[in-house]
Amino acid sequence: MKSVICNWKLNPQSFNEAKRLFDATKKIAAVKKKAQVVVLPPSIFLHYLRGGYKGTRIEFGAQAVSNEQSGSHTGEVSAMQVLNAGATYALVGHAEQRASGVSNADVHTQVAAALEAKLDVILAVGERVRDTQGQYLFTIREQIATALEGVPLTRFKNITIAYEPVWAIGAPQAPDANAVHQMVLLVKKVIADAYGDRALKAVRVVYGGSVDEHSAASILEIPGLHGVLVGRASLDPKHLEAIIDAAHTNG
Ligand code: PGA
Repeated sequence: MKSVICNWKLNPQSFNEAKRLFDATKKIAAVKKKAQVVVLPPSIFLHYLRGGYKGTRIEFGAQAVSNEQSGSHTGEVSAMQVLNAGATYALVGHAEQRASGVSNADVHTQVAAALEAKLDVILAVGERVRDTQGQYLFTIREQIATALEGVPLTRFKNITIAYEPVWAIGAPQAPDANAVHQMVLLVKKVIADAYGDRALKAVRVVYGGSVDEHSAASILEIPGLHGVLVGRASLDPKHLEAIIDAAHTNG
């Protein structure tokens, strides 16, 4: 089953709008049954949306979790709070979090905190620039290796790697499906080299970065790709419908 992970980021601005967007997403998910739909709303909406949802087609997650479990950490949201709000996923290491100071070491702590709270982890990795010397390979390798250090093989089934090259996030369009395919193979090779075949079979790999209603069909046809992480296009039900339909068709 292919996943469509909807990263709402800092949108929308009111609960009523969030509810409308969620209701539209729910309607689409209800008919496109061969796609898995995960919604990552702002934490302030998570509990309400989850609490008001009686269906089973949509899963919920947080866009980020704290390094800390509890205590004096103003403005943070803990993995346990996310779990207790009814979510099953935590996105960790998104490029926008990394850009605001979240380090590889923090990502490692947050992955551990999320797994400890029994959340599944969507681990976002990706290079800032695609240099010609291949430095980006090391960046990705290091991001994955640091984040997953100490994670036992038995927990790899709870990990989704979201490959999101920073240069492709918020861009006019996604790279073409061939380029995305190459990147997916690369991420899979990093996992196989570091952790072996069992790990590779257990983890899921999704792509993110300007996936929209035009690019979704060809990207979701990529063999071995488990889905897409969608930012802007997840805020527009028409665009989202085309993406979820592509996941359903290839599911
Ligand atoms: P985008 O965002 O689809 O708007 O490029 C993707 C992401 O940052 O997860």
